[in-house]
Amino acid sequence: MSDKQSVTVHAPGKVNLQLNVGGRRTDGYHEIATIFLAVSCYDKLVLRRSSGLRVTVSGTGAGEVPADDSNLAGQAIKAVAKMGGVEPDVHIHIHKRIPVQGGMGGGSSDAAGALLGGDALWQLGIGRAGLMSLAEELGSDVPFSMLGGVALGRGRGEALQPLTSGITYHWVFAVAGFGLSTPAVFGAHERHRQEAGLPFAAGCLPAPQVSPRLIDALACGDVDLVAQNLTNDLEFVASRMRPELTGTLTVGRGAGALAGFLCGTGATTAFLVPNESTAHDVAEALLASETCASVRIARGPVQGPRIGKAEEF
Ligand code: C5P
Repeated sequence: MSDKQSVTVHAPGKVNLQLNVGGRRTDGYHEIATIFLAVSCYDKLVLRRSSGLRVTVSGTGAGEVPADDSNLAGQAIKAVAKMGGVEPDVHIHIHKRIPVQGGMGGGSSDAAGALLGGDALWQLGIGRAGLMSLAEELGSDVPFSMLGGVALGRGRGEALQPLTSGITYHWVFAVAGFGLSTPAVFGAHERHRQEAGLPFAAGCLPAPQVSPRLIDALACGDVDLVAQNLTNDLEFVASRMRPELTGTLTVGRGAGALAGFLCGTGATTAFLVPNESTAHDVAEALLASETCASVRIARGPVQGPRIGKAEEF
């Protein structure tokens, strides 16, 4: 057994370039077809050997993150410790920069980072591929959070096919002053379909598909074509739940973004911009408009969680 005392992990957030929602399955999950893209907005996790398992959180929205048994990173540590046959005696400190309840996969990223960090701390040698089965059990977005880059997601989001991206894109994220709960947004989407007299059971709907044009545009690095194909089926209901989101989208689009759309289940909104200078213009306009609480400028795709040196942080 190694005497490694601490490990630090950088875990990136994600944006869904298309989020196409199909019917509800008998297990309660919705069939989706999505393209995930990892972005350079990172949570930092420091794992230190300790007596017993402890989770602490700092940074943006820290107060909203559970520091008890329901914390997904804590559950991930228990899962990797069990797989490796060791006790989960570790203190995980999570420093948040990915918005909480923001649709950017923050909780999933922390879980993926904790899986990787636990494997490294205890030098279990499980590796990313071996951790994937644990990732799948922890949540629909955790497998992508482990993979990073850009990928097509099917099923409930866990069935992944890596894609190629010709270039790195520039993004601005507007962090809302409130969060949106993933089950609440999926529930609202389903009620909306019911009210409209539309079918909502998975057996009554065709499997959702992402547009082949978007996959081609990504492969070629055609930023304008990518921008034209950014869609999110949940944006309508999320904007109905929180009409303020429409104002944020209007400001970002009007300030030079090529496209603006809801991140995952919200409440963050994402703006694709042509370059870094426009990113700063859009970020400034968003802040000046007071239609969001804060902004993040990022690029992506980036690789999945990576181990760093504790002294870097
Ligand atoms: O998989 P995860 O635990 O992150 O999902 C949280 C909740 O989000 C699920 O319990 C479900 O209500 C909703 N969900 C869904 N369809 C998906 C993914 C999540 O309905 N594809």
